[in-house]
Amino acid sequence: MPRLIGLDVGTTGLKGVAVAEDGRVEAKAEEAYPFATPRPGWTEQDPDLWWDACRRVQERLGGGDAIGLSGQMHGLVLLDAGHEPIRPAILWNDGRTAAQCAEIEAALGREELVSLTGNRALTGFTAPKLLWVREHEPELYARVRHVLLPKDYVRFKLTGELATDVSDASGTLLFDVARRTWSERVLSALGIPAEWMPPALESPTAAGGTRDGIPAAAGGGDQAAGAIGVGVDRPGPASVALGTSGVVFAALDGYRPDPEARVHTFCHARPGAWHAMGVMLSAAGSLRWLRDATAPGAGFSALVAEAERWPPGAGGVRFLPYLSGERTPHADPGVRGAFVGLGLEHDRGALVRAVLEGVAYGLRDSLELLAAAGGRPAVGRVSGGGARSGLWLRIIAAVLGIPLEHTEVEEGAAYGAALLGGVAGGVFPDVETAIARCVRPTGRIDPDPSWAEVYETGYASFRAAYPALRRLEES
Ligand code: XUL
Repeated sequence: MPRLIGLDVGTTGLKGVAVAEDGRVEAKAEEAYPFATPRPGWTEQDPDLWWDACRRVQERLGGGDAIGLSGQMHGLVLLDAGHEPIRPAILWNDGRTAAQCAEIEAALGREELVSLTGNRALTGFTAPKLLWVREHEPELYARVRHVLLPKDYVRFKLTGELATDVSDASGTLLFDVARRTWSERVLSALGIPAEWMPPALESPTAAGGTRDGIPAAAGGGDQAAGAIGVGVDRPGPASVALGTSGVVFAALDGYRPDPEARVHTFCHARPGAWHAMGVMLSAAGSLRWLRDATAPGAGFSALVAEAERWPPGAGGVRFLPYLSGERTPHADPGVRGAFVGLGLEHDRGALVRAVLEGVAYGLRDSLELLAAAGGRPAVGRVSGGGARSGLWLRIIAAVLGIPLEHTEVEEGAAYGAALLGGVAGGVFPDVETAIARCVRPTGRIDPDPSWAEVYETGYASFRAAYPALRRLEES
């Protein structure tokens, strides 16, 4: 039986799965790595951490007949003429580029930028980072010959091929999302040489192969691959991903950017499909931060058990999850997080519960914008590390007011990457068949009606807190 390997180059580690052609996961492996915050609001990672982790994960998984890649999106990887990284990658949740975003919107005009790329200029995207390097590190910029995204650096090391896929390329702000090709107009307006960009292929297409001749799919950005992994390839259920970031994602059958770009519009990993999504920067990343700050080394399930002792509303404690600023809905790299409503009665469990709830409110912000842009999804399919927590899913279902579905396999992005690999390797004729054969919804969590009122009030007060926090940053 063919064995499909899916590799997801995440923010906190590289995850791999080996999948049989009927969708069963035969092996899993994960290797963690850190990221650096060299200054407040900056995040960077050495690309070779990904490659070292990839080799270790592959050793643990064993061989396969096809590979698919997915990874954290938007990261800027710069290679010189010898294909060596010029500096650490600047990651998707880095907020240093507010000035460059303003320059980009001035150069193209926001309306043209949105109609071409499906997006406003946002600090985590790739193009403003390239401009930042040009302005602040001209001696490094002079050495740039290739621009890659994180998973595409791992692909280069695996296969020797410089390539990307259309879903990940959509997150650069240099891509013509309607035409699924690099945008000559944006590249030339920003003065970025088109030859620096790798070929952008449809996600299930083979983009070269490993030294042993194993085909590797172009793959997808982690959100698009994750959606494939939970069977969201066309309008229907939304994908709700609880990784370091938190995402609510709806597949579209045509390119229909929101004119105000309140949500992103990107190419999907299924050829002929697009998607809209809202992205909060610190979802499971907020829980990890709280764990590292208050209980280093503790397991997440022990922390969540402490939260379970508190009722909905966390005894009045509220958490604003803006630890790296926020993307959707505020597009504000400068805002910072907060706990509000603390009293002597609160313990760590109350803080944990407030974090789980604050992240759920952040996801609700994205759901409301998706609903306004194209219709409210009737159900969400969950994936990502945070989806392992039953309590968190109950909270999210109640706050979003829609049922959440589990699928048999929760490794959304790595699993979706394996399915894309299966199409590239000829095991499945197309993405649709891969999903039909492999993705099986299992449990369902309905919103608890007895939690609805407290979470409606909680959401209103969450919405009211942002303007106050913004004013604090300005004072
Ligand atoms: C998507 C995004 C994040 C990263 C995290 O636009 O920025 O979800 O891909 O891995």
